[in-house]
Amino acid sequence: MPCVVIVGTQFGDEGKGKIVDFYAKDADLVVRYQGGTNAGHTVVVGDDTFKFHLIPSGVIQGKKAIIGNGVVIDLEVLNKEIENLKSKGKDIDLLISDRAHLTLPFHKTLDGMEESLKGKSKVGTTKRGIGPTYTDKANRIGLRMVDLRHIYVLRKKLDFIVPFKQKILKKVFNSNVTISKKETLDYCLNLGDKVKGYIGDASVEINNTIKQGKNILFEGAQGTLLDVDHGTYPYVTSSSPTVGGALTGSGIGPKHIDTIVGISKGYTTRVGGGPLPTEMNDEIGDKIREKGKEFGTTTGRPRRCGWFDAVILRYAVRVNSLDGLAITKLDVLGGLDKVKICTSYRYKVRVVKEFPADLELLEKCQPVYEEMDGWGDLSEEKWREIAKDGYYSLPKELRNYLKRIEKLAGVPIYVISLGPGRESTICLKEIF
Ligand code: IMP
Repeated sequence: MPCVVIVGTQFGDEGKGKIVDFYAKDADLVVRYQGGTNAGHTVVVGDDTFKFHLIPSGVIQGKKAIIGNGVVIDLEVLNKEIENLKSKGKDIDLLISDRAHLTLPFHKTLDGMEESLKGKSKVGTTKRGIGPTYTDKANRIGLRMVDLRHIYVLRKKLDFIVPFKQKILKKVFNSNVTISKKETLDYCLNLGDKVKGYIGDASVEINNTIKQGKNILFEGAQGTLLDVDHGTYPYVTSSSPTVGGALTGSGIGPKHIDTIVGISKGYTTRVGGGPLPTEMNDEIGDKIREKGKEFGTTTGRPRRCGWFDAVILRYAVRVNSLDGLAITKLDVLGGLDKVKICTSYRYKVRVVKEFPADLELLEKCQPVYEEMDGWGDLSEEKWREIAKDGYYSLPKELRNYLKRIEKLAGVPIYVISLGPGRESTICLKEIF
């Protein structure tokens, strides 16, 4: 009865959507466990491109999908995604945890205002209200999906929260923006009504599915370095993309997890503020950004690009107990004469091997690189052919690059991705 967790090992955007889609073919249930509409997964199937912010991308495979209690839900986006899938003729078997919290319109307003007030120290959030929603959750004043069932509960909660937020807007942010209790209530009632049928106890459903010996895939959003505990705090998101989040965000215990797979791009990207030790502020970085279409799925912002960072990968292996890796977008690096892997950092005369909590130190660290020969710039068609022919048809230089990553990580590579489509994938180990 395998339960598999898929986590991002970097700063999000590692290509998790594609790998989840790839493995979902053998899953009976797919579960999203944290984050909200800050995430964006793109899955390409034939001529169709699907973009998801909330619904687990495994639904495209016709799988039962669960949005766990750890996710924060923007009802407007959720409804759009459901309608979009329906319009493309997809049947949706979806269950949304009754314990999941709601991102309301004022959370988005507050996200923008908090960022402005932080000035130079802003996080560079997606402005989707994620931080303010998780703040209210931790502060025990949030609204949950279950509340949509009872108008009197909604009214009672909004009686407190609307004036409370209004005061904050006025007194902290000196803003004239008003929040209407009636509009917020109508928003919850109208949009909530459309999704009521999907709400239920996700933990019960997941645990029953485990008892039946079925295959479950847990998909994380964002990545290890954006984790509120293990990421580059304060330049992080407000949830737990690491493996622990899969447990608290879905309502299962650790004994049920069989396999944990970490997804890494063949290089590193980051969107928003915060440290990126291997950042390339040069032509190669620009080239990778263009070729890899490294622009945010949610916000369209250009992503910062850097060389592969094995210090970060080792850190992700440790905090997630990774069993194996999927390395994506290796086609994007094709055509470079030399490729680099950062194996450690140097701080003054000291070698730093473990990813530090201290951002002051990290800012002053220099990456220590190993340089390797690059491989050719091949067409999509050629990469597809190579994928079909398997691992040993990969260019020798690329195999050397992957072997080095494996060695530095200390765990094996399970999947190699050479392009956006399902057919540009080499699977070295099945997980179900
Ligand atoms: P928030 O999650 O919108 O609060 O943003 C916090 C930080 O996480 C910002 O640097 C965002 O750019 C980053 N972030 C949030 N979601 C994603 C994602 O799905 N991919 C990459 N970066 C993300």
